Amino acid sequence: VGITDKLDSLASLGIDAIWFSPFFKSPQKDAGYDVSDYKDIDPLFGNLVDFDNLVSACRKFGIKVIVDLVPNHSSVQHELFQAALKAPEGSPERGMYIFRDGKGKNGDLPPNNWPSVFGGNAWTRITNPDGTPGQWYLHLFDSSQPDFDWTNRWVRDRFIEVLTFWLDKGIDGFRVDVAHGLAKKAGLPDFIRDDAYWQAKPEDRAENPYFGNDGVHEIYREWRALLNSYAGDRVLCAEAFVEPLTKMAQWVRPDEMMQAFIFPYLVTRWVPEKLRTVIDDSLEAFHAVGAPSTWVLSNHDQVRHATRLALDPSTMTADRITGVGPRTEPKPDRAEGLRRARGASTLMLALPGSAYLYQGEELGLPEAVDIPDADRQDPTFRRTNGEAYGRDGCRVPIPWEADKPAYGFGPSADTWLPQPAEYREYSRDLQEGTDGSTLELYRSLLRLRRDFGLGTGTFEWLAGFPVEVLAMSNNGIRVYFNMSDAPITLPEGEVLVASADVSNGVLPASAAAWLR
Ligand code: NOJ
Repeated sequence: VGITDKLDSLASLGIDAIWFSPFFKSPQKDAGYDVSDYKDIDPLFGNLVDFDNLVSACRKFGIKVIVDLVPNHSSVQHELFQAALKAPEGSPERGMYIFRDGKGKNGDLPPNNWPSVFGGNAWTRITNPDGTPGQWYLHLFDSSQPDFDWTNRWVRDRFIEVLTFWLDKGIDGFRVDVAHGLAKKAGLPDFIRDDAYWQAKPEDRAENPYFGNDGVHEIYREWRALLNSYAGDRVLCAEAFVEPLTKMAQWVRPDEMMQAFIFPYLVTRWVPEKLRTVIDDSLEAFHAVGAPSTWVLSNHDQVRHATRLALDPSTMTADRITGVGPRTEPKPDRAEGLRRARGASTLMLALPGSAYLYQGEELGLPEAVDIPDADRQDPTFRRTNGEAYGRDGCRVPIPWEADKPAYGFGPSADTWLPQPAEYREYSRDLQEGTDGSTLELYRSLLRLRRDFGLGTGTFEWLAGFPVEVLAMSNNGIRVYFNMSDAPITLPEGEVLVASADVSNGVLPASAAAWLR
């Protein structure tokens, strides 16, 4: 059932590993990032026996399994939070989370000014068992996601148990959610972000009291030691949303994690100079700590790159999940978005380091932009009163088979988010074996990336091209990415793969090619 049935298709794409988004027991208030039991599977997805079968099936295909660990917060339904609600102020049960007295005469103001990433403020007041208003708890995300207190050794020990539980099941590692958020600055001081803050360079900005604090590193050193005690290769991959890149690289120092998603690369819009700079800065920062750069263009939190790259670069926001929806103007052009996305992926898969793909990008899938408000699931939409669309548009079930209900995603057409009619034409079965399809492009890129050892290759920019053309070489493969709006003549060489037709020796606008 489900993913286990699709592993042959994934293996034939040429992937090495699958990162599964959270499948733990959860009330699903934030797509599973609100965990109520870290050692069980939500019945929505199956059970622990199904999981063991999935792991053995992955083994057969040589696919590694990466589990999404959510340590910054649990669900309000977690037994530890439920116990904290029933226990008195100052009790060990309350000490697992971040409870504080409110400000103001009756404690009816939040303890500080921190905002929730999803909109609104980051504190919710509880009602005591006797019905009186009580303390406030911190939630950097939705109110259904209370933050743990990571200064508490008990919390750390519970998570060592969680990591051990999954490692003992034979998994290959973890993607670590909000890996920049576990340590909060002592005293939980207010955080002022005025114009001066935003105008300063990231490295000159005042320290954020809840994201990117140094206290996180000792936690990951402990986890790394645990992973090292298991035979074979294991990975910790950080979702560390910190700037600048030299700071992010601290998450992947030799005794900490192994990978960290390069978000500044992901959020770079269609601006060639910026793309070139972020590639340079990433390679330099990660090289300095001996870690690979980890490239990514799409994930479950960001507008799919087949849509994002066609947006006007001046509408860019890097730190807010505004999304794209019916009110977005100008409307991104679907055909141009696809050309750009194919070009961008052709460049990305030539870069040294590791690369993560997001399900559906291998089909060239655009964002679902017309989801009716009533169907939206992302807490961001509700918490911002509909001002931010949130992330639903990239989470719509992907099309496998054009003529099946739900385009083959599941047994019924009734999917958790509605699929737009245009998703039919992106169906995998229509692309399989079809010359020039996005699926076949990704397959070729992944095969050649492996054949030529590009992941561990040596990167160099090639001189002599205008600024809108990114030209580079890696292990003897020359890569040209034409970000201008006019075609260019390709240099001499054998074309190994290209994101558009180059049979006449011309590289069209928005396209990329690999030459030998
Ligand atoms: C980052 C995850 O990728 C996102 O989907 C989630 O909503 C937040 N962390 C909170 O867990």
